[in-house]
Amino acid sequence: MIKILTTRAEAAEFAASARFSGKKMGFVPTMGALHQGHLSLVSRALEENDLCVVSIFVNPIQFNNPIDLEKYPRTPERDIQMLINAGCHAVFMPTVQEMYPEPATETYDFGHLDKVMEGAFRPGHFNGVAVVVRRLFEIVQPHRAYFGEKDYQQLAIIRELVSKYQLPVEVIPCPIVREADGLAMSSRNMRLSASDRSKAPEIYRILKAAREIAKDHDVATVKEWVLKSLKSIDGFEPEYFEIASAESLLPIDHWDEAEVVMGFVVVWLGGVRLIDNIELRRKPSKP
Ligand code: PAJ
Repeated sequence: MIKILTTRAEAAEFAASARFSGKKMGFVPTMGALHQGHLSLVSRALEENDLCVVSIFVNPIQFNNPIDLEKYPRTPERDIQMLINAGCHAVFMPTVQEMYPEPATETYDFGHLDKVMEGAFRPGHFNGVAVVVRRLFEIVQPHRAYFGEKDYQQLAIIRELVSKYQLPVEVIPCPIVREADGLAMSSRNMRLSASDRSKAPEIYRILKAAREIAKDHDVATVKEWVLKSLKSIDGFEPEYFEIASAESLLPIDHWDEAEVVMGFVVVWLGGVRLIDNIELRRKPSKP
């Protein structure tokens, strides 16, 4: 049976007894409204560890937009049932008061990593992510923690957090899980109207087309084409499309500036913010 942990003390006790019995723990931090994307991280954690712990916490301090926080879907009973079905061992569902008895004052600086793209458009977002993830790591004390490449920049920030502060956890990246029509799974997708939901897969269709165009066109041409294509779809309001190095996340002007080049996109559709990314080009590996 799954253990439902709500206080830090309960979670810390679970972690301590797991450590004591020499069990390896895999941890999947989430904000709930779970879907197959989250569950792919859970399966991976179950495969590679003796125990899997999932946290469900809609972290208020990472929302720069109060409406987004208010409208963030919350489906705790359904989430717990999904985690039971998946074979997860424990779920940590703290209250805001439990995580933040006092307002959080820690500040993090990840250099350019938290200044570009999501960092530029969502001020304070990554600070809030870093604060909560570090606190969760300290409470749950996992051996490994699983993060999706859907939030590619978040993954880069977490890696930097772990390396900068030498946190004793291994960060495992997991590929994006998509709906059959290509839309990247997201808790926010359930907020799309039926007509917007039918348009949303265009994001990935355009990203895939961009990958084809990137084979024989320059960076500026691809960027222009993607933005023009996104804007041509009724209701799409692209916030950004960046072509950047997969490693530094800095924008590039020429394909040969990075080993792996990615396209990163955010589109607003009917008041819902959708994020996605794709690998556009990779330098052939040396023999
Ligand atoms: P949330 O959006 O719930 O996502 C939890 C984890 O699931 C993240 O690592 C995210 O990248 C991953 N994920 C979401 N959709 C995915 C998909 N379609 N394919 C693969 N992985 C996917 O990200 C957060 O919560 C929060 O910022 C958090 C890290 C929990 C800190 O509050």
